[in-house]
Amino acid sequence: MFKLVSAKEMLGKALNGRYAVGQFNINNLEWTKAVLMTAQELNSPVILGVSEGAGKYMCGYKTIVGMVEGMLEGLNITVPVALHLDHGSYEGAKDCIEAGFSSVMFDGSHYPIDENVSKTTELVNICDEKGLSLEAEVGSIGGEEDGVVGAGECADPDECRQIADLGVTMLAAGIGNIHGKYPENWAGLSFETLEAVKGKVGDMPLVLHGGTGIPEDMIKKAISLGVAKINVNTECQLTFAEATRKYIEAGKDLQGKGFDPRKLLAPGFEAIKSTVKEKMELFGSVNKA
Ligand code: 13P
Repeated sequence: MFKLVSAKEMLGKALNGRYAVGQFNINNLEWTKAVLMTAQELNSPVILGVSEGAGKYMCGYKTIVGMVEGMLEGLNITVPVALHLDHGSYEGAKDCIEAGFSSVMFDGSHYPIDENVSKTTELVNICDEKGLSLEAEVGSIGGEEDGVVGAGECADPDECRQIADLGVTMLAAGIGNIHGKYPENWAGLSFETLEAVKGKVGDMPLVLHGGTGIPEDMIKKAISLGVAKINVNTECQLTFAEATRKYIEAGKDLQGKGFDPRKLLAPGFEAIKSTVKEKMELFGSVNKA
């Protein structure tokens, strides 16, 4: 009870049931609480994503494990929750495993394929031994995240097969998706690449990064072709910032004593709850806990 779980079982069920589990990146206590409470209210499994930058901001991976485990108990969260490193370096993945994360992503997409293979193999062995899930990436995801800039490639299906065969739990394959907002002239997701990758990796759950701003019909089609996990970060940032800005502009301070921090962050908290609810409904994970 109240324990973090590996993402393996929830993603296997999602793949079979043709829906996707949302990975929502967290940056502070309010975001984390909003995602967990929404998952519980909607009876949905959920993955909390932590970038290395967010890990530093929140005082290190151990602090995050402590906060999340405390919340599972304090908020009485009984739906399956995985705590997952997002776009981890090789060292970052090892640190998160040590700190008590239940899932990690090793983003070796910028290494030559042989080095990606050898580092991923080592992490597969460690994760297997500890019962953790591991995400690997082939073909970098476009846009910028935490200072890491990717060009938005389409993955090579044979390389996907090579990495999938190492025994990872899930695979992020670049299919023209981009982190952050999509540009006006974006060509859309490459379903051709997705189908080719799926044809090579069989029952491996596929991960769609850059979940902000992808049209609903493309999300649904991607799920129908084997995507079982979708990552969302920017949309939470945008709604959180907008709600906070409006609250400050309304100028309800405490008679010159500044803003009550709990009231200041409450509209952003509610905004994230709404965003997460909308995504879980779109991804089809409601009542799948
Ligand atoms: P967005 O910031 O575009 O929602 O993407 C999030 C993501 O893919 C995290 O890995």
